[in-house]
Amino acid sequence: MVSLVGPSGSGKSSLLAVAATLVRPTSGDVIVDGINTAGLKDRELTALRREKVGIIFQQPNLLASLTAVEQLMIGHHLRGKPLRAARSRAAGLLDLVGLAASADKRPHQLSGGQRQRVNIARALMGSPKVLLVDEPTAALDHARSASIVGLLRRVTDEFQVATVMVTHDTEFVPLTDAVAVMRDGGLTAPVVPGALPSAGGAE
Ligand SMILES: Nc1ncnc2c1ncn2[C@@H]1O[C@H](COP(=O)(O)OP(=O)(O)OP(=O)(O)O)[C@@H](O)[C@H]1O
Ligand SMILES: [Mg+2]
Repeated sequence: MVSLVGPSGSGKSSLLAVAATLVRPTSGDVIVDGINTAGLKDRELTALRREKVGIIFQQPNLLASLTAVEQLMIGHHLRGKPLRAARSRAAGLLDLVGLAASADKRPHQLSGGQRQRVNIARALMGSPKVLLVDEPTAALDHARSASIVGLLRRVTDEFQVATVMVTHDTEFVPLTDAVAVMRDGGLTAPVVPGALPSAGGAE
C-alpha cells in the first residue's frame, strides 16, 4: 500500500488515470498483474479493468435509484456473473465494510462515510489486483476519514491487493507501507513513511 502525495496540480490524479488504463500514456508502459497494457485494444482494456482494477474516487458516484447491495451487484452482473452469486458476494462485502444493516438503503439514506464504504465494497466485487484510490477522505470529517483509511488498510491486507492512495492527509501516510511524492508531473521512488525529509513536500 503506497501513499501518493504532492501539491495540487502535480499530476497525482493523472497518474492514477494512466495506471487505471483510462488514459493511454504518451510514453512508458503500464503493466497490470504482469500484463503490458500497451498492446491491448480498448475492448481488452475494458475487460482488464473490470477483472483486475478497482477504482475509488473522492465522490463515490453511486446510482441514486439503486440500493447499496444493488450498487455492488450491477457491476458483477455486467461481468456476466449470475445474479444469485452477485447478491451473496455483495452481501458479504457490505458486511465486511460494516454496512450489513444498510444493504437496502439508497445513497440519499446513507452518510458520506457510508457512501464511501459502499464505494470501497463495490471496487472489491471483481477481486481486483490493484486498488487505485484518489483522495477517499476529502469530503469526510476526521473520525470518518480515519476509519475509511483504516478500512482501506484492512482490505489491502485481506484481499492481498496492491493499493495506491492519493491523500492530502499526511497523518494517514504512516498507515501505508511506502510513500511516493509527485512534483511537477514527476514521481520520486517510494520510500518507507518517516524516511521523507521534513521538507518532503507532502503539501
Ligand atoms: N485531461 C487532461 N488534459 C490535459 N491536462 C490535464 C488533464 N487532466 C489534468 N490535466 C493537467 O495536468 C496537471 C495535473 O493535474 P492532476 O489533476 O493530475 O493533479 P493532482 O495532483 O491530482 O491535483 P489535485 O491535488 O488538485 O487533485 C494539471 O496541470 C492539470 O491541469
Ligand atoms: Mg487530483
